[in-house]
Amino acid sequence: MGAQDLIIRGAHVLDPGSNLDGITDVRLSAGRITEVGEGLRGVRALDASGLHLFPGFVDVHAHWRTPGREDEETIETGSAAAAAGGFTSVVMMPNTDPVIDKPVVVSGLVRRIERESRVRAYVSAALHEGLEGKRLTEMRLLKEAGAFCVSDDGLGTQSAGVLRNGMLYAKSAGLPVILHCEDHTLATGVVHDGVAAALAGLPGSPGSAEDVATAMALVLAAETSAKVHVTHVSTALSAALVGFFKVRGDITADTTPHHLTLTEELVSTLEGLYRVNPPLRPDEDRIGVGDALASGILDFVATDHAPHAASEKELPLEEAAPGFLGHETAFSALYTDLVQSGKLSLSRLIETMASAPGRWVREASGASGACGICPGAPADLALVDLSGEWTVRADALVSRSSNSPYLGRRLKGRVVGTVVGGEMVYDGIGAKFGARA
Ligand code: DOR
Repeated sequence: MGAQDLIIRGAHVLDPGSNLDGITDVRLSAGRITEVGEGLRGVRALDASGLHLFPGFVDVHAHWRTPGREDEETIETGSAAAAAGGFTSVVMMPNTDPVIDKPVVVSGLVRRIERESRVRAYVSAALHEGLEGKRLTEMRLLKEAGAFCVSDDGLGTQSAGVLRNGMLYAKSAGLPVILHCEDHTLATGVVHDGVAAALAGLPGSPGSAEDVATAMALVLAAETSAKVHVTHVSTALSAALVGFFKVRGDITADTTPHHLTLTEELVSTLEGLYRVNPPLRPDEDRIGVGDALASGILDFVATDHAPHAASEKELPLEEAAPGFLGHETAFSALYTDLVQSGKLSLSRLIETMASAPGRWVREASGASGACGICPGAPADLALVDLSGEWTVRADALVSRSSNSPYLGRRLKGRVVGTVVGGEMVYDGIGAKFGARA
């Protein structure tokens, strides 16, 4: 037993990856989990009885707006928001200003992450220079500079030939590709092209804008065997396509908390807040995507945390910037809408927020060793009060922006503590390790 050991005592520990689901103690030492079992003793202890302890959540899709739009989010505020939502690892997207398409930008960002981030953060570099879908980036050099994956997120790649070359090059460079699937010849509107758009008189983009691009990406992923991750799947058909192709390639996919809990119906408010890309869909799509997540066709959840200034959201829908905050509400929104209603088990929710994306990140980074809540694994943990209720308020959000689609909603289940490498990076109960021993 080391002098700095910490025991998290009496929490209900749930880790689908380690088959843990019951009240037990967890010992942390030198940044790692060193023991799991009943009756552990140590000098410093946190009484976590009544709380749940999960493996830390992993978000492979976030926009921390650095460099370029630090008025909307920074590494400091984005990582604090992530920690407040129980996230211990995050992948940062490259649609910044400048775009993260050069080794010098990647290495600068990696250095800043080391200084400024509260959680583990990984840099996605661009797949194409300037995200323009024309010239491939120097992926080998980007990887050497510290890039973790490549993506043109925010934009779809329009040419199959260009995308195929990108996959082949990424594969040879050993980088996974995260794909935003959208055909811009079909995605000409600002909301989903459905009943709500028609009633509101707003230009719509059909579900086929996503489905056509998803089909193209999956065909190419199967052919090239590149490691391809399709992000923010929002239609039932795209989810079904993922199901068909994932056995034919190194393919994974995620969907977002908002596509699992909200629908196009919000468009009737005409509020710019509800513009997002891909757009909120009809209930049939929300249900189809939810079923695909429950059955394992979709591998995990990622938030697409996309902060925007109030001046870019408090506008008519046609003029507003697309995007929602995601980190701070992800667990609670999904727990409230899916677990409490019996549509998803708590265990599957934790698998889709922690175990599965965690496995994806570890595989992509070539990490070996244990993960989850078991001896030897990094001490990355989320402590949650499932009976806690809270109302989402702009002034209480940790993010520098406040464009949450859940503003005003009362949610159940509250993250009360987040631990990264044994350090408490978010303390929502004033626990301070040792104080409640
Ligand atoms: O709504 C979105 N916002 N979707 C994206 O793909 C990009 C994101 C952003 O960067 O704001």
